[in-house]
Amino acid sequence: MKQITIAIDGPASSGKSTVAKIVADKLGYTYLDTGAMYRSVTYLALQHALPEEDIEELVKLIDQYPISFSLAEDGSQLVFLGEQNVTDAIRQNDVTANVSWVAALPQVREKLVKEQQRIAKTGAIIMDGRDIGTVVLPNAELKIFLNASVEERAERRYKENQAKGIEADLERLKQAIADRDYKDSHRKVSPLKAADDAITFDTTGVSIDGVVAFILEKATEIIDKQ
Ligand code: DC
Repeated sequence: MKQITIAIDGPASSGKSTVAKIVADKLGYTYLDTGAMYRSVTYLALQHALPEEDIEELVKLIDQYPISFSLAEDGSQLVFLGEQNVTDAIRQNDVTANVSWVAALPQVREKLVKEQQRIAKTGAIIMDGRDIGTVVLPNAELKIFLNASVEERAERRYKENQAKGIEADLERLKQAIADRDYKDSHRKVSPLKAADDAITFDTTGVSIDGVVAFILEKATEIIDKQ
């Protein structure tokens, strides 16, 4: 069976990673969470108390502490920075609050995009992020842009945070999501936007199963045609 590459983009908490993981599982594809990579670099910057101007040092640290992924016993994905398991640390509020400035650094993006493209070379991959359809995998056979209202995304993040024991306040989450949308969409390098050939899907009020079924249907159509 022909293997394709699938790009899923969209703003914070639009459900990208949840559905991408399920679709990857159903198709037997690799799933790559590129947001986790930007979060890991942010964690590095915070750990080393690096200011925005010290890009050179940050780029050196990325080489020193390579980002890698592995599977936990329960099938969930673990993220490592060098030898350190940072799966939970990169979801904490301090990382979330700082990730936009780190993700706006062109030198950081250049390094991470190269690594993402290297990982995608094998095909049979589903990758989620902000610039996958536009920059990382411009030739992906299927590009999906997921969106949802700020209210719904804040509620989803609120529930996720509560389940993970991360402190959460719904109004503040709404504000933080709106801020991050603005910063991600207005940065100079690779801003968040749908590729011209992406299918945009508004997931407000749509169940996870509904979104998964939609993407699987589109993927199957393309795979069958090859
Ligand atoms: O998907 P996420 O919320 O975990 O992503 C964290 C941040 O990383 C997000 O605010 C923007 C940035 N990001 C990016 O700039 N490009 C990507 N391909 C993925 C994430």
